[in-house]
Amino acid sequence: MLNRTIVVVGASRGIGCEMVKHFAKNSDNTILALSRNKEKMEHNFQDFKNVRCVAFDLSHSVFAQAQAIFSDLNQIDILINNAGKLVNKAFTDLSHEDIQLCYQINVIGVMETVQAALPKMLPANGHIVNISSMGGFQGTVKFAGLSAYSTSKAAVCSFTELFSEEYKDEQISMNCLCLGAAQTEMLDEAFPGYQAPVSAEKMAEFIVDFSLHANQWIKGKILPISLSTP
Ligand SMILES: NC(=O)c1ccc[n+]([C@@H]2O[C@H](COP(=O)([O-])OP(=O)(O)OC[C@H]3O[C@@H](n4cnc5c(N)ncnc54)[C@H](OP(=O)(O)O)[C@@H]3O)[C@@H](O)[C@H]2O)c1
Repeated sequence: MLNRTIVVVGASRGIGCEMVKHFAKNSDNTILALSRNKEKMEHNFQDFKNVRCVAFDLSHSVFAQAQAIFSDLNQIDILINNAGKLVNKAFTDLSHEDIQLCYQINVIGVMETVQAALPKMLPANGHIVNISSMGGFQGTVKFAGLSAYSTSKAAVCSFTELFSEEYKDEQISMNCLCLGAAQTEMLDEAFPGYQAPVSAEKMAEFIVDFSLHANQWIKGKILPISLSTP
């Protein structure tokens, strides 16, 4: 299919930034790049005419912001919920605000973005890809300090199954990728000094390919995508 409209949330750096560049290489794609830092995105994607950058903050009023941003799109073929908030703190040091912000960005933000995107995605038989973490995948090795972050990522996995049950009679698909380590600023904050076996570019390449094709074969699935621990 040609002329896809693709929304990448969390596009200013890391894996999201690389995904936008990868999608943008195909001039038939129109990409909406979202994050809080519009200037940085405009700088990152200045070579691509098919990328539009819009400021979007998952920490408040997500449904209203997303509805306004999506209002002039005819349809959305692919939505990638990639933005993430890391909190790396001992459990007893976590404040109410730490936990609340982590869940707001990683869970409520994702759910409300999907609510706003649905009217544009249902007619397009779109594919929603939620980006979770190996830390949120049941039975994996867990790490001290990540209880707020990893439980929020587990909620994203659960949301994927629940959404998919509710929309099982529609052609729209949602899948969830639980990423292992990829070399980004967030990884550095979580595991200072750790060298990931996978670059942000490589991880982005996989997610882009998955988002374009996997919905022909699977929906409602939670998949571990990892070469390493962490
Ligand atoms: N890297 C890894 O090893 C790894 C492993 C497992 C899972 N993941 C997951 O993969 C995804 C991408 O990770 P990454 O390593 O590329 O992260 P990153 O480098 O920290 O980038 C995170 C992105 O999320 C955006 N973001 C953060 N807070 C936001 C907010 N309030 N509103 C809107 N956007 C916001 C940031 O943009 P602004 O700051 O400009 O808003 C940035 O573009 C995340 O969901 C992460 O949890 C990564």
